[in-house]
Amino acid sequence: MKKTVLVSGGAGFIGSHVTVELLQAGYEVIVADNFSNCDTTCFEGVKKITGRVDLPLVKMDFCDAAAAERLFAENRIDAVIHFAAFKAVGESVAKPLMYYKNNLQSFLNVLEAAEKAGGCNVLFSSSATVYGEPDTVPVTEKTPRKPATSPYGNTKQMCEDILRDAVKASEGRLKGILLRYFNPIGAHPSALIGELPRGVPNNLVPFITQTAIGKRECLSIFGNDYPTPDGTCLRDYIDIVDLAKAHVCAVSRMIDGKMKEDCEVFNIGTGRPVSVLELVNAFEKVNGLKLNYKFAPRRAGDVTAIWADPTLANEEMGWKAERSVEQTLAAAWAWERHLHELGL
Ligand code: UFG
Repeated sequence: MKKTVLVSGGAGFIGSHVTVELLQAGYEVIVADNFSNCDTTCFEGVKKITGRVDLPLVKMDFCDAAAAERLFAENRIDAVIHFAAFKAVGESVAKPLMYYKNNLQSFLNVLEAAEKAGGCNVLFSSSATVYGEPDTVPVTEKTPRKPATSPYGNTKQMCEDILRDAVKASEGRLKGILLRYFNPIGAHPSALIGELPRGVPNNLVPFITQTAIGKRECLSIFGNDYPTPDGTCLRDYIDIVDLAKAHVCAVSRMIDGKMKEDCEVFNIGTGRPVSVLELVNAFEKVNGLKLNYKFAPRRAGDVTAIWADPTLANEEMGWKAERSVEQTLAAAWAWERHLHELGL
């Protein structure tokens, strides 16, 4: 019998790509989402890519404890991947209570519901933001976490700790994996699912593609006086499909009983630092266009340079990032053109 994975926030950018990879790897998936930060575009795209017109969708908010409990009581869930959370750094500074309430409450409800149902394998989507401005790069999982610089970052750290403590106290009922993502970018090669930011994008790649299509006039590159080779910040941009595949590896590791500890943590990155300017140049080159950009002052809160040492994920989970920056940026551009055709 197929194993079932619940994907909370499964209609969003990362959740939809993970759902595709799980289905293609032979898992059954229940997508649950409250559509607070997405529409049904990606969910419909998942159905088209996988041919699963009957894919179950539960419209629900995980802040509703009773609804979460019902979901676990009524389905045999072998693993849950928790994406349902707010994720805009700047907004979290302006609305901290909204972030703490939503991001903590929903995760607590997932864990309580999972415990009440007799236990579960839990994958939490964490972020490289927990490392702050690291003293050395690349960062390994042993690199110390730094105090968070935003309520968003704080919720990631708190949820990491909550899962660790809950696993420890659960006497084997709960197992956990924390995946710390670096910078997820790109879109599915089918161009049927991708990132759909509401309003002005905060992140670099959606801003680039929206500028290229004419939705934005000019990209501002925040800071060209950083102590890096070309003066712009260095990041580890990870292809969204590669990232999604890491989730399949992590879920299999939990379900197949391959974990070495009850709560494990893995960096999910390429190990390859790329500067903002390099990314912009690569986008222009691979897609054969010129981007309107200018240098602007540094953005508050940005770290100079961070990239992953992904050795642990490579060796322990048998996962490795495979796609080149060029392939990823071509997919991101194909997705933006698809959105343009849809009038979005
Ligand atoms: N950048 C620009 N112009 C823009 C947008 C971004 O120059 O219009 C630059 C940023 O200054 C930064 C780089 O592009 O140097 C990447 O910025 P993103 O906003 O795309 O990504 P961040 O590295 O700031 O943040 C991402 C995720 C967060 C997560 C963090 C962890 O968006 O959710 O990585 O390090 F917390």
